[in-house]
Amino acid sequence: MAKIIIIYSTTDGHTLKICHQLKTVIEQQAHQVELVSIDDAQQVDLQIFDKIVIGASIRYGKHSPHIYEFIKQNQQRLESKPNAFFSVNLVARKPEKRTPESNPYVRKFLQQISWQPREVTVFAGELDYQKYGIRDRLIIRLIMWMTKGPTDPNTLKDYTDWKQVDAFGQVICEM
Ligand SMILES: Cc1cc2nc3c(=O)[nH]c(=O)nc-3n(C[C@H](O)[C@H](O)[C@H](O)COP(=O)(O)O)c2cc1C
Repeated sequence: MAKIIIIYSTTDGHTLKICHQLKTVIEQQAHQVELVSIDDAQQVDLQIFDKIVIGASIRYGKHSPHIYEFIKQNQQRLESKPNAFFSVNLVARKPEKRTPESNPYVRKFLQQISWQPREVTVFAGELDYQKYGIRDRLIIRLIMWMTKGPTDPNTLKDYTDWKQVDAFGQVICEM
């Protein structure tokens, strides 16, 4: 049995929802999973975990700066154990932009950090206009219009491929 930590960064909760699904899949293989917000991650003793996973969503083109800081401060420890990273964003709603090589945010992220995660993936996120404030809603609608996505302000669409999430849970078990 492995003890696995998944450290996540979320704004509207969708990345956490993905983490819960990963936890369910991994625990079915009799491993233990702890989900920790990036806000609390500095207080955690990484030493006690056998594997480390980091997941973060994109907001206006970037993963949270806290994710960068955490990786920088813990790179040695990360590299000393099986480790993985996943990104959540809406560009990945297009299947051709859903691999680490084809997703612009993941490509850029991996260029910016010196940690090379053993496993990397990218999940499509959720679009929920009603959850956003007026300014965010306007900007996301504009981005969606430019990228031929839905612009109806009532749109609530989960683009995540949950089978892909389950498969990544399996990858984490086996890494
Ligand atoms: C204010 C805001 C900005 C966003 N910016 C981007 C973006 O630049 N590129 C993108 O692909 N997705 C973008 N998204 C989509 C989010 O990555 C997506 O909704 C994801 O599911 C959010 O996950 P979270 O709830 O864990 O934060 C944005 C969403 C919001 C609300």
